[in-house]
Amino acid sequence: MKEQKKILQDKIDQAHLGGGLDRIEKQHKKGKLTARERVELLLDEGSFEEIGNLVTHRTKDFGMEEQVFYGDGVVTGHGTIEGRIIYVFAQDFTVFGGSLSETHAEKICKIMDLAMKTGAPLIGLNDSGGARIQEGVRSLGGYADIFYRNVMASGVIPQISAIMGPCAGGAVYSPAITDFTIMVENSSYMFVTGPNVVKTVTNEIVTAEELGGASTHSTKSGVTHLTASNDLSCINKIKKLLSYMPQNCEEKTQRIDYVLNDELRPDLENIIPESANKPYDMKHVIDGLADEDSFFEIHESYAENIIVGFARLAGRSVGIVANQPLSLAGCLDVDSSKKAARFTRFCDCFNIPLLVLVDVPGFLPGTDQEWNGIIVNGAKLLYALSEATVPKVTLITRKAYGGAYDVMNSKHIGADFNFAWPSAEIAVMGAKGASEIIFKREIDASDNPEATLAEKEAEYAKLFANPYSAAQRGFIDEVILPEETRRKLIRTYAVLETKVKQLPKKKHGNIPL
Ligand code: HXC
Repeated sequence: MKEQKKILQDKIDQAHLGGGLDRIEKQHKKGKLTARERVELLLDEGSFEEIGNLVTHRTKDFGMEEQVFYGDGVVTGHGTIEGRIIYVFAQDFTVFGGSLSETHAEKICKIMDLAMKTGAPLIGLNDSGGARIQEGVRSLGGYADIFYRNVMASGVIPQISAIMGPCAGGAVYSPAITDFTIMVENSSYMFVTGPNVVKTVTNEIVTAEELGGASTHSTKSGVTHLTASNDLSCINKIKKLLSYMPQNCEEKTQRIDYVLNDELRPDLENIIPESANKPYDMKHVIDGLADEDSFFEIHESYAENIIVGFARLAGRSVGIVANQPLSLAGCLDVDSSKKAARFTRFCDCFNIPLLVLVDVPGFLPGTDQEWNGIIVNGAKLLYALSEATVPKVTLITRKAYGGAYDVMNSKHIGADFNFAWPSAEIAVMGAKGASEIIFKREIDASDNPEATLAEKEAEYAKLFANPYSAAQRGFIDEVILPEETRRKLIRTYAVLETKVKQLPKKKHGNIPL
């Protein structure tokens, strides 16, 4: 037995060495941790149970039988985070650049199947050069096996992808299907084809960072939801993100202990500027409504005219979708509609109630928007909010104009409670634009067109620039004071805790993609 133990220990030690000490050193020199170090940091101490540490590849071509590494470039298994079971894979860049072989894929598929069977989240720590070139179609098949499982698991268990090194080719499509992607700044890239291929095909000269670095994907493409300054910060953000989610679609999120106080927030009283055209920061409203320091923003630097993120209200997890008057005056456009629709659908998949904060002058006009499909993209948000069956609450802080009033979780598309502050203006459009259209003849015929316009504007504003005609019709349930809003929301979500809503029986809907 002693001899057998030694044989086993030797193999385990070899597995821990991955592609060898020199490659581990190289990884450290780049400021990156190894796959095993990442897993250890992610999980509760001592909770990791590895699966398949002695798996090796089966390739004989290109002298590959001489290069065999236990684990085959990926560390897989399960463990706990804050006591909750999760499944994890971490690609090991020291073994063939973390590239995906047939057996590497089989290891990932094995834990994906276990995560699905047991209803536990899946976390992927990606660091991979894509399909293992020496394995040809076998590695492509391995990728497809993973993609298929990502799709089957979508909406069943939360799936989070960290990008912690260069990820090329097939290595980017699995993260794209998962719920959240988080990239490490300056050491991670995501692209379908790298700068060399880009140069050959298009003659374009671009650096890896410009093409697919964290800053590109967090601002321009929106491919990544979060960024982190280094590996440790990335791992901490994964843990935080997970804390707002349940284990699977059958469960609710864990409620954090919270002792109720009077819950009044006087600071919110003066947050809306006197002038309707003056912007203010909706994040201050969110901070005033949510539990202290609980707001966790997603897609912070992408489509900044809408804010999405998780927060807690008296310890309950909520998903917030909010117009941001500081950017494009809070108008809805193509990117913000896509961003908010995707977030809404995540919350709905995993029983996280929604809070929609509205200050929206309408959809952004112009050829750029029309040619990029604002019609079909705006419809995504309309569809996602209509379809969501979780508790849905709306608060109109100021403007709710035109089609955007309908889209932003109006009563008509199924919101459970709709509140408005006294500063709300619910109308087809702003007073000036509306007066110019409906009083055009009188203004044109007037000796003093400017004075007539101002007079008509005031008349229109008096009639519509308020929440009361909507409240009279029941489209707004109650006009509430800013300082009392947090208390109202806490009570509202408590009442909605037992909400049950079924969609009509269907195979699945056809969201305008
Ligand atoms: C086999 C690979 C590999 C790969 C890297 N390596 N990528 N081995 N298959 N795909 C190996 C290298 O040979 C090297 O081995 C080690 O990993 C580290 O790679 P380096 O190039 O030295 O590292 P670095 O300079 O950091 O560059 C990393 C990289 C680059 C940007 C990822 O290696 C690269 O461009 N690789 C190819 C990426 C790619 O085109 N993948 C697409 C495959 S097609 P040694 O022994 O020297 O340490 C694909 C299609 C799937 O994925 C489609 C599904 C939809």
